[in-house]
Amino acid sequence: MLVSVIGAGYVGLVAACCLANSGHRVKCVEHDRSKCEMLAGGLLPFYEEGLGDLLARGVKGGKLSFSTEIESIKNTEIIIVAVGTPSRPDGKVDLGQIFGVMTDISELATEPVTLIMKSTVPPGLGLQLQKRFLFQKSGKIAYVSNPEFLREGRAVKDWYQPERIVVGAETPEAVETVKSLYSDIEAPFCVMDISSAEMVKYASNAFLATKISFINEIANLCELVGADIIPVARAVGMDGRIGGSFLQAGLGYGGSCFPKDTKGLDFISTLNGHTFNLLKAVIEVNARQRILAVRKLSRLLDSLCGKKIAILGLSFKPGTDDTRESPSLDIIRMLGDEGAEVTAYDPMAVLRQNAGPLPEFTLCGDPLAALTSSHAAVITTEWREFLDMDWEKAWKIMSPPRVILDGRNCLDPHKIKSLGFQYAGMGRA
Ligand SMILES: NC(=O)c1ccc[n+]([C@@H]2O[C@H](COP(=O)([O-])OP(=O)(O)OC[C@H]3O[C@@H](n4cnc5c(N)ncnc54)[C@H](O)[C@@H]3O)[C@@H](O)[C@H]2O)c1
Repeated sequence: MLVSVIGAGYVGLVAACCLANSGHRVKCVEHDRSKCEMLAGGLLPFYEEGLGDLLARGVKGGKLSFSTEIESIKNTEIIIVAVGTPSRPDGKVDLGQIFGVMTDISELATEPVTLIMKSTVPPGLGLQLQKRFLFQKSGKIAYVSNPEFLREGRAVKDWYQPERIVVGAETPEAVETVKSLYSDIEAPFCVMDISSAEMVKYASNAFLATKISFINEIANLCELVGADIIPVARAVGMDGRIGGSFLQAGLGYGGSCFPKDTKGLDFISTLNGHTFNLLKAVIEVNARQRILAVRKLSRLLDSLCGKKIAILGLSFKPGTDDTRESPSLDIIRMLGDEGAEVTAYDPMAVLRQNAGPLPEFTLCGDPLAALTSSHAAVITTEWREFLDMDWEKAWKIMSPPRVILDGRNCLDPHKIKSLGFQYAGMGRA
């Protein structure tokens, strides 16, 4: 099939490369000129495991091309929209990129064409977009909601082995078109109306965020009653009705999806006259978790003022270079406000503009450089490198009292304590 993908971000680029690898002819439109030039030359603008090979193969084999010109969506059978839907400060979903693309599509698309919305958009928006932008071409442009569930760090695997493919469409023909696009992928198709498909995405992210905030609350209580969250969470998760994933206590969620989608769903709820109390609590608990970590460190060091703190990990999770809404950046900001001097290291993170204004800190090229003469270290991202690090050497170059705050509960407390460090985890007895 001849496919256009609009937006070469984490979602659009994975879609474009994987579809080209599956034999479709894909034209990807990205309006950021420098990003587009990199891609056309076969270079990735961000890290994602396995994506570089697919990109190079697609470009070399002529199945995948890139352009800044939106006109290239003409004469394609399928248009996939994968532009950003960031949060506004009030939590409302910023639909500026979506409206911009819809204007272009309404002017340029040659019918018949199937428009597949992969960006996460508020439930009900698809119906509005059809009325507002596609009314002159009604019946000729089939609008489909096909939310994306890939996870950064394992996006290519998720593309080829999704747990389900959700399709919100108004006609059986549109559903069939989506099925032919994914003909090489084995997964259950969940077919429904457009607004329901849009809701599945928000409900899924809100539920996963709820699990994280729930286990963090249990962890906080564990500390108060002298219990240990690690065996607690493990045993709770062994109940098949609950499941063990997303039950890792720590600094809470970050990234480009959970924070904005939980806030977005809360805003949508309020707009519709519903007070989503549970979700409000999830968001509040997540924000508080970072503050609790800073308070804990302040207690352990007596005061943060004048202390040197090393932050290990800047990306919001391991396996990605994405720092959007990363807990570490918030923590660095709070430490700076308390008068601490912050150094930081991450094996992969790239501090891009889309992560917002940056707090002040010294970025180091290796973990030991960040740790040199620091009074404390905070593990903010559970990169393998920090688990395997020479902690004995770290002890030698750090300054007393040598506190390790393991914000992801990823180190072995016995080993760390036996080296002479003061160790504190999240929810550990
Ligand atoms: N990142 C994830 O893990 C993930 C997972 C599932 C769903 N989503 C959703 O997918 C959507 C995209 O997310 P992302 O992380 O890929 O965003 P992103 O910000 O990384 O990428 C969006 C890209 O679209 C480009 N763009 C914007 N307007 C354009 C236009 N008019 N023409 C051409 N290019 C344009 C931007 O320059 C950018 O490169 C969002 O709605 C997000 O919520 C993201």
